[in-house]
Amino acid sequence: MAATFKFGFTPFAHPRGVLVVFCEENVKLGPATQRALAPMGDLIRRAAAADRFTGKSGSSLDIVAPSGLDLPRVVVVGIGKESELKSRDIVKLGGIAMGKVPAAAANATIFAEFGPGALKAHQVADLALGARLRSYTFDLYKTKRKDDEERASKVEVNIGCSNPASAEKAWSDKAAIADGVILARNLVNEPANVLYPGEFARRASGLTKLGVNVEVLDVAAMKKLGMGALLGVGQGSAHESKLVVMRWNGGKRGVDPVSFIGKGVCFDTGGISIKPAQGMEDMKGDMAGAACVVGLIHALAARKAKVNAVGAIGLVENMPDGKAQRPGDIVKTMSGQTIEIINTDAEGRLVLADVLHYVNKRFKPKFMVNLATLTGAIIVALGHEYAGMFCNDDKLAERLTKSGEVIGERVWRMPLGPEYDKMIDSKFADMKNTGGRWGGAITAAQLLQRFVGKTPWAHLDIAGTGMDSPQSDINKSWASGWGVRLLDQLVEEYYER
Ligand code: BES
Ligand code: MN
Ligand code: ZN
Repeated sequence: MAATFKFGFTPFAHPRGVLVVFCEENVKLGPATQRALAPMGDLIRRAAAADRFTGKSGSSLDIVAPSGLDLPRVVVVGIGKESELKSRDIVKLGGIAMGKVPAAAANATIFAEFGPGALKAHQVADLALGARLRSYTFDLYKTKRKDDEERASKVEVNIGCSNPASAEKAWSDKAAIADGVILARNLVNEPANVLYPGEFARRASGLTKLGVNVEVLDVAAMKKLGMGALLGVGQGSAHESKLVVMRWNGGKRGVDPVSFIGKGVCFDTGGISIKPAQGMEDMKGDMAGAACVVGLIHALAARKAKVNAVGAIGLVENMPDGKAQRPGDIVKTMSGQTIEIINTDAEGRLVLADVLHYVNKRFKPKFMVNLATLTGAIIVALGHEYAGMFCNDDKLAERLTKSGEVIGERVWRMPLGPEYDKMIDSKFADMKNTGGRWGGAITAAQLLQRFVGKTPWAHLDIAGTGMDSPQSDINKSWASGWGVRLLDQLVEEYYER
């Protein structure tokens, strides 16, 4: 029963349906907005006075069935006195505006005008991006609705602007990004009985439609490559593990690719070191890193990014079983290094160890960025606002930090170092898969670093941001699709052409 949304751009002159406009402090409306609302006379002034609405940032004024206008509703959203709105602020305002449109409305118009002048094309597209992301819901499995949850099944949203044609052009790239984020959210929200490794691989294979080359490696292929760490995690599951490699070659021939690697644990019970029951259902989202990589490659391909990019995701299910791996087991990774399993619940790093080595060896990438819902410890450290970033290269770290500031998905750099590294030395093997109670996010990162050689690499621990993240103005769903916009921005700003 998911609603379908159609986003378009129209001139200011013809609003339809619920009309959302913006104003600065003291209810200062832009010229096009004033013109459109003129038939209402002084209704806005009177309503604002009655409601003590002044246009403060975050406040809004709702006028139902306004006299003089043939519209069901006009909503005025205050933006305060911000003169310089950044891209991330405009996206957010698009989300806030969309949030003012009642679910039952089949038609809405949002005016892309904040005060003095109309917005530029790329800003109009940012506004539409925020509105699109806010409109997302995941209700695939709801077959009934309560009466008060009535919603339109088809919704048309138009962004009123001064030049619809140029806004439409700017939107085509942003629409590709929005689709990537929504693809990632859908994958994370899907339950694990539906989205197991084989089904995940099938969905990733859908990217071939956009011109992406997709390879799916099965267990036999991974055995041949010697991926003992990844395979050990999946060996207790009834579902076969998969490794999916996606390649988008939009850049010059022969130029080394950028690469993105995702943890795709379709469900993490903890394995033999089983997790407590409380909240275990959230572990269907333990593939948020892999979902982000698929969403990102979708975005890059759909907007025909001029870059060579590789996405690789390790897909497994971590189950307790007669065939499951045990604490004390020692596995051999593709790199040749051995790992002693202390806790079967520290499985993400085992999957990534093999995928990182594989990508590094096969593609000689410019850099590797991996995303993983890797540790509860990163949530203890940073909560749900920042993702933890571990990086062996200052330039890459700076670029990731800046990209995050621009689009509003922020990363906080965490330390790496030999003192932490020795915490994962093992009595029996080259290393062990846990480093004890303290610095749990760091020792996990130290293990990954042992598989990246000298290649510039960043590990983003998204346990706090990829799922169950706080509801924001541009997301009301459990899954956030975190990272798609961040990494698209990184590629666009620093690696295209
Ligand atoms: N998938 C979990 C981490 C996680 C926890 C993600 C909460 C999202 C929310 C990971 O596989 C895990 O179980 N990590 C353990 C590692 C420990 C056993 C060393 C953890 O963080 O407790
Ligand atoms: Mn685990
Ligand atoms: Zn996990």
